[in-house]
Amino acid sequence: MINTLTKAYIFLLIMTVFSCRTDSKNVVSKVSNEAPFDVKVDSLMRLMTLQEKIGQTVMYSGGWTVTGPTVSSNNKKYIKEGNVGAMLNVYSAKGTRDLQKLAVEETRLGIPLLFGYDVIHGFRTIFPINLGLAASWDLEDIEKGSRIAAEEASAEGIHWTFAPMVDIGRDPRWGRISEGAGEDVYLGSEIAKAYVKGFQGDDLSKHNTILACAKHFVGYGAAQAGRDYHTVNMGEDELRNVYLPPFEATVEAGVETFMTAFNEVNGVPATANKFIFRDILRDEWNFNGFVVTDYTAINELVPHGFAEDEKHATKLAINAGIDMDMMSSANRLYLEELVNEGSVDETLINDACRRILLTKYKLGLFDDPYRYCDEQREKEVVYKPEFLEAARKSAAMCSVLLKNEGKGLPLNNSQTIALIGPLAKDKENIIGNWAAAGDRKGKAISVHEGIQEYLGDSKIIYAKGCEIEGDDKSEFNRAINAAKRADKVVMVMGEDYDMSGEAASRTNIKLPGRQTDLIKAIRKAVPNKKIILVLMNGRPLDLSEEDHLADAILETWFPGTSGGSGVADVLFGTYNPSGKLPVTFPRTLGQVPIYYNMKNTGRPIPPNNPKEDYKSNYIDSPNTPLYPFGHGLSYTNFEYSDVQLSATTIGSSDTLTASVTITNTGDYDGSEVAQLYVHDKVGSITRPVKELKGFEKIVLKKGESKTVSFDLTVEDLKFYNNDTFTVEPGTFEIAIKGTSDFNFEHIFTLE
Ligand code: BGC
Repeated sequence: MINTLTKAYIFLLIMTVFSCRTDSKNVVSKVSNEAPFDVKVDSLMRLMTLQEKIGQTVMYSGGWTVTGPTVSSNNKKYIKEGNVGAMLNVYSAKGTRDLQKLAVEETRLGIPLLFGYDVIHGFRTIFPINLGLAASWDLEDIEKGSRIAAEEASAEGIHWTFAPMVDIGRDPRWGRISEGAGEDVYLGSEIAKAYVKGFQGDDLSKHNTILACAKHFVGYGAAQAGRDYHTVNMGEDELRNVYLPPFEATVEAGVETFMTAFNEVNGVPATANKFIFRDILRDEWNFNGFVVTDYTAINELVPHGFAEDEKHATKLAINAGIDMDMMSSANRLYLEELVNEGSVDETLINDACRRILLTKYKLGLFDDPYRYCDEQREKEVVYKPEFLEAARKSAAMCSVLLKNEGKGLPLNNSQTIALIGPLAKDKENIIGNWAAAGDRKGKAISVHEGIQEYLGDSKIIYAKGCEIEGDDKSEFNRAINAAKRADKVVMVMGEDYDMSGEAASRTNIKLPGRQTDLIKAIRKAVPNKKIILVLMNGRPLDLSEEDHLADAILETWFPGTSGGSGVADVLFGTYNPSGKLPVTFPRTLGQVPIYYNMKNTGRPIPPNNPKEDYKSNYIDSPNTPLYPFGHGLSYTNFEYSDVQLSATTIGSSDTLTASVTITNTGDYDGSEVAQLYVHDKVGSITRPVKELKGFEKIVLKKGESKTVSFDLTVEDLKFYNNDTFTVEPGTFEIAIKGTSDFNFEHIFTLE
């Protein structure tokens, strides 16, 4: 029902609008400031031609250069014609201001542009890659990192990040596993919310908050054979129990936009998938923001074999519920014609345009289209010392100590270190893939520089030893000599930054090039010296050889701009490692996909005889991974008491409290991530052998004990059984541990 006040607004606005018709430029600035956004949008839309409405649904890319954005003259022409609603890959206060001016001052209606960019794990100050951030299991830190990213990006004119990527990733061959939070539904969903809160803050109209975008909807991480963009085929149970929940979590957190996935889902490309966008996203989840395609995804409906030509593709996408076209030119070229010939309903375009305009209002762009293009703020905000310090802390928190035998770590500053490896002095790869406007030319702190902070120069003997890739062994001897002269050997190795990320899938997940050979050569030359392997990589690697060769292994992912300092803090024990794997590290690629919450099968291997015949196993490898999900060591030890349950039987409206006492029994203060796992023993569809249902990170001084408690309700036990979401009475196993590698010992019953 429209109340009288609203009617009065409408009248006022229409009057304002009509009075502007002759002098239409900047008409939006004359629309009454008092009206609610939706009324303003309606009134603005009354002024718009069909072509202008379509213009709002079009996004183009600027050039992506280091010195500043360049935008093709064609794009400028389209902007001036009112045929563009948003731009991507344009940044800097000046660059965005110049383009915004075209839209505001040279189009008929003066509607401001939206500037989007891939601010994935930092904007200028780069944090560890997202898979690394997930290894912190620290939601506060992740939220803070994305808050800082939003501060920097918004000071350079960006309104909108194409993040977070909340695709579950269970295949280490897939290059984009680096960009997500790993394999787990619960951890992934919690992290997804933290990103959204960090980017969007509590008020979108503030000049330092930006729109978040949940991507890629949906199933992108399940690409067959780990090959990017490849086919996705899965049952609705897997879709709803594994791949959809992190997306739904972003809707709960108030995410403003969604992006389509490149892949098909069960035969229908996501960008034309009504079931996903209309039935689930809009109807089930009531998502009110707008949906953008991935880059040229409408055009790609043709090679997918789903559309006859690009015009047909345009029709399929808008019908499926897509609002904005990123880079396909499809909406600009075909939508008007499709409406005029009656094959697309104009209300679909109105809906899309309305959602996009509403978002622009929420950002405050109609109050001041230049509010994000402030050169003074840009100078003050970018690379603030406190941001670099936060990135250093994140790098330390994200590092996972995979192995530490014979106290290889921590190092102490009385010893001489042989620092070896292609990534030891690296400042280019250390910021990882998708590093936004991060600097690959020297801004980052290398591991060498980080270690220098502790040891100075005289106690470091450096030798590169080999490159990341290639067969050259000519520097091996120099590295061997360095190892012979030192007390301990630190080898910094891994992948090139562009060996993960988009279109960077690998069929081999071992350390590339001659790096493993170099470790072998050094092991042979100094059999009794400690070798510490520091890794930078964008995916789980097959480290089965390295696990034998090195005394300690520290996984640092790509740790970011302050990465070298943060990693050195861990190596020297200033920060006691607390990271836990968000993804399983296999023994061999042949085990992939391998993840902790698999199903049991009808022929599981008996725990005491894994080689029994006709069981679900391999003849040439154990089923178990090298390093399981949730694994991560500390310099101290944590002892877990038995789980205490508030009840052994609960009803459907009860809450079960499960607690453990954790004691730091080692020699260092430290943090531990306590993980709550549940196993629903019998279900109307089979249930995973373990499911993470909660976690908490606690700090314990040496000798200290703390009790950690988790509350479980039936909501936490819900699953989709191929028909409906259900919670089924029965027996559940439960445990609280510091890793997913354990056997359950406690049960409870749901009546
Ligand atoms: C990627 C998206 C990204 C977009 C814009 C695409 O190729 O898949 O994740 O946001 O490009 O850069």
